Amino acid sequence: MKIVAFANQKGGVGKTTTAVTLAHGLAKHSRRTLLVDLDPQGHTAFSLGLEKSPGLYRLVCLDEPLRTLVQSARPNLDVLPGDKRSESVKRLITLSDFRESILSDRLRGADYECILIDMAPSLDVLHVNGLVASDWVVIPTRLDALAVDGVKEILLTMGEVGQRGHGFQGFSILPTFFDRTTRETLAQFKEIVKAFGAHVWPPIPQDTRVREASAYGQTPWEYGPDSPAVTGYLDNRQRIGGYQQALDRLMEVIDA
Ligand SMILES: Nc1ncnc2c1ncn2[C@@H]1O[C@H](COP(=O)(O)OP(=O)(O)OP(=O)(O)O)[C@@H](O)[C@H]1O
Ligand SMILES: [Mg+2]
Repeated sequence: MKIVAFANQKGGVGKTTTAVTLAHGLAKHSRRTLLVDLDPQGHTAFSLGLEKSPGLYRLVCLDEPLRTLVQSARPNLDVLPGDKRSESVKRLITLSDFRESILSDRLRGADYECILIDMAPSLDVLHVNGLVASDWVVIPTRLDALAVDGVKEILLTMGEVGQRGHGFQGFSILPTFFDRTTRETLAQFKEIVKAFGAHVWPPIPQDTRVREASAYGQTPWEYGPDSPAVTGYLDNRQRIGGYQQALDRLMEVIDA
């Protein structure tokens, strides 16, 4: 079983969209998948047309069994939802003797082939728990002037977690909101590739249908399977980027 976190302390970079879309993609490829919402905003369930609920709170604070807390979202896809009570999880974790590995302990032995964790835009104790639970980290980032700095910051946190004994298998950077008609986007994309090389996955195009999909409680595979965010864009007859290519990369990670 592989656990993959979607993390960036910056808000609105596409963490939830990416985690939901790729989780559904894995499920469509018959991988039994659990999506965990670590964000008190509780957007993960909403994006799949489900209600928010205190699933994470009940798992961590009340130690209720995971299987009684998950909701079935799609065939092969379960969700452990979150809501504002996830805030009080932070308090409990802070007071615990095993403060960095509680989530990891609770998820260990879960009956899934992969678990994807949607992280909040923060660097708090819940965030550290998400990292400690994870084998791999995907870092979605917008291509703005501070993108490289933002990625470096999360890599620093991962380094600190690593120094305390946790071994990550690797990380990937996923540029989002890619607009190849904008000079700034292209310049920042080059910067990111220069800084992080092969860690950078092909970008996800900016695409209004992605926003519409989540408002309807659908994933891009359902709402706009032919839209650029899924299929990528055409460059010299070659398709580049999009969630289909990101899914292929993620399956390589999970099957490795
Ligand atoms: N490729 C895209 N093109 C257009 N809109 C997008 C794209 N990806 C995500 N969005 C929209 O941008 C908004 C922010 O995305 P999302 O919620 O996934 O970011 P986030 O990093 O999870 O935010 P937060 O930090 O608040 O958790 C959402 O309304 C989403 O529908
Ligand atoms: Mg989010």
